Amino acid sequence: MRSFILLLLFSGHLSAGNVDWSVIETPPQFVHDKNADTVFFKVEKSGMSDESAKNTPGNLLEQTIHCLANGNPRPSYRWKKDGKSFLPSMFPEKVVQKPGEGSLVFSRLDETDAGLYQCEAENSNGTAVDRPVRVQETWIRHFKTAEPEVVVVEVGDPYQRNCSPPASNPTARVYWILMGKEPGHFETISSSHISSNEQGTLFFHYVNETDLKSDRYYTCTAENIELKDYKFGNQFSLQITNNKRRSCEFFISSFK
Ligand SMILES: *[C@@H]1O[C@H](CO)[C@@H](O)[C@H](O)[C@H]1NC(C)=O
Ligand SMILES: *[C@@H]1O[C@H](CO)[C@@H](O)[C@H](O)[C@H]1NC(C)=O
Repeated sequence: MRSFILLLLFSGHLSAGNVDWSVIETPPQFVHDKNADTVFFKVEKSGMSDESAKNTPGNLLEQTIHCLANGNPRPSYRWKKDGKSFLPSMFPEKVVQKPGEGSLVFSRLDETDAGLYQCEAENSNGTAVDRPVRVQETWIRHFKTAEPEVVVVEVGDPYQRNCSPPASNPTARVYWILMGKEPGHFETISSSHISSNEQGTLFFHYVNETDLKSDRYYTCTAENIELKDYKFGNQFSLQITNNKRRSCEFFISSFK
């Protein structure tokens, strides 16, 4: 502020009224909403059922990568994909550059659109290079099919069980639920003596008779949080024995 006042006092021919800001050049400066590091898309398969299309979050079939910069003169925009020049105008059927911006709006993305995209804004006063954005397809496979297993455990013993989730991009979140043998029935496991870790291992700190669920299976669940899709697998039920207690009773009774 002070230097501005001094400027007014000592430069007779300059006054605040006739500074022509339009001739003062400024380099491009990005002003758009920050893009996510990774932007996911789902490939719209021609055979995709109405049901599956309906369940796909809308943002996965159409994606925008933001790029907008201030600057004088008004900047122009350039894109790079995987380090090479990318011209949106060459793919009018799937990508549109917003008028007056660098932002790219993709629709109907497919496998060939995956890559690292980077926006550059340039004017005669300089160039700004934005952080690159990784564009990736999101997907999740199925669990290997297997019959539910029956696991024999001794009451009071600890028991742990791993889960082998299917491949997924991004990596699936893994947890266990109780699933009815009849379809459509799900239940979370909420017992203080049962826990699980991020790798999907389920721990019974000790097995209690109440862990026997005759009409349900312990079921590993793999969730792709981008796709909002779940897969179920690795089912088992418990068969609980109490041999130790019985042998103890036998031991006691033999002393009677
Ligand atoms: C950008 O513009 C400013 C003022 O308009 C000037 O001082 C500067 O040298 C310019 N920079 C470049 C790289 O042209
Ligand atoms: C088994 O669980 C029930 C219900 O949570 C509890 O009341 C009971 O004490 C438990 N038994 C053992 C042996 O921990």
